[in-house]
Amino acid sequence: MSKKIVKRSWAEPFKIKVVEQIKMTTRAVREKAIKEAGYNTFLLRSQDVYIDLLTDSGTNAMSDNQWAGMMIGDEAYAGSRNFYTLWDNVKKYYGMPYFVPTHQGRAAEHIIAQILVKPGDYIPGNMYFTTTRLHQELAGGTFVDIIIDEAHDPQKIHPFKGNVDLNKLDALVKKVGAKNIPYVCIAGPVNMAGGQPVSMANINELSVYCAKHGIKMWFDATRAVENAYFIKLREKGFADKTIAQILKEMLKPFDGLWVSAKKDLMVNIGGIFATRNKKVFDEARNLCVVYEGLHTYGGLAGRDMEAMARGMDEMVDFDTIKARIGQVEYCGNKLKEYGVPIVEPIGGHAVFLDAKKFLPHIKQIEFPAQALTAEIYLDSGVRGMERGIVSAGRNAKTGENNFPKLELVRLTFPRRVYTQAHIDVTVESVASVYENRKSIKGLKMIYEPKYLRFFQGRFEKLK
Ligand code: F0G
Repeated sequence: MSKKIVKRSWAEPFKIKVVEQIKMTTRAVREKAIKEAGYNTFLLRSQDVYIDLLTDSGTNAMSDNQWAGMMIGDEAYAGSRNFYTLWDNVKKYYGMPYFVPTHQGRAAEHIIAQILVKPGDYIPGNMYFTTTRLHQELAGGTFVDIIIDEAHDPQKIHPFKGNVDLNKLDALVKKVGAKNIPYVCIAGPVNMAGGQPVSMANINELSVYCAKHGIKMWFDATRAVENAYFIKLREKGFADKTIAQILKEMLKPFDGLWVSAKKDLMVNIGGIFATRNKKVFDEARNLCVVYEGLHTYGGLAGRDMEAMARGMDEMVDFDTIKARIGQVEYCGNKLKEYGVPIVEPIGGHAVFLDAKKFLPHIKQIEFPAQALTAEIYLDSGVRGMERGIVSAGRNAKTGENNFPKLELVRLTFPRRVYTQAHIDVTVESVASVYENRKSIKGLKMIYEPKYLRFFQGRFEKLK
């Protein structure tokens, strides 16, 4: 009997013009490399990596149109033409009148925290992001998680696991007072929750609450087009709207936003600070000169700003996002066929392996997700990232380890970079590590830097 035809409904809306050679290494080479890297995939050399799923940040393939734009970079110190092109697009797509370029997302987070947060403040958010929370803390603030409980349960199915629990916000407001909350910090989708989106209904409810209490809202729009895509697919009333329309509507209640342009905009470097608030804008422009460079380049070359502007035109294309998220879903669904435990629903930018379920014999303080990330690299040269206890760091006040409910390994997909065959190789590798999971041992941390320890921490294998 011949096989039944199932027509694939989509494929990438582009073809390949330039290729970059990558190399498969031997297990012996990888063993040496990961040991030298202190079992931290951030410390590997990329030449020792076969398929690089560390991050989707700055690792994207630019289009021919973006590369062409690089050639018309206006490298003037002040008032570059590309800055104005980019500003026009910030207004067009994000709907914010004021804009300051930054060299990447955390630079904008730094500026925002310096302007808005004063010592003793509380900043509620829909789960933390590493760099965002650190800048809030360095400014003297305390981050408070107000995401819905479902987000902390890898297997719980909910279409908008990034939503805010308004009762948690209300409890905080009652406890500390609205005047000690400079802004509510919303990300969509939520990276650390597994790339989970926030719904339009939830944003609108939040905005009614915040307006009533005089609290501002700021948005981490780093992967906002992916959030808009999930709203279009999952939320009633949005199926016929374009991604650009949904994006603008999503951002309407916010006083300002920031973007790590290294994601949605499909460039290799760049960040955005944007706001409706003229006073905050003036302060941000001023701080930009201190930390980044003149406010018309913010640590970027003119050509980088042109590539960002053109990336924005491409990021709202429905077929582009569909193919991007389709690739992530393809990977997640294949892993499920092998019984590998993952965070569900499958997120926007990455598949997250549930290391607690994958390695139940390893205690959280022996860093199961870190150990699993290293093991997958050892098996095939596929590089992922720990998103568990190492990333969660320590409590800023007590110095104790944070023990997050989610202990995850992130396999993150750069945009327009890898093929379906690369994903098949990745899936086969993770599945074979899963088959041999009982032999995997935990790790001991032997070097811990003060800030963002997951980037530079070093580990040793436990016997
Ligand atoms: N916000 C979110 C949601 C992010 O994912 C990132 C970076 C940032 C802010 C900071 O931006 O790196 O340009 O300074 N995320 C990367 C990642 C590093 O791998 O998830 P940045």
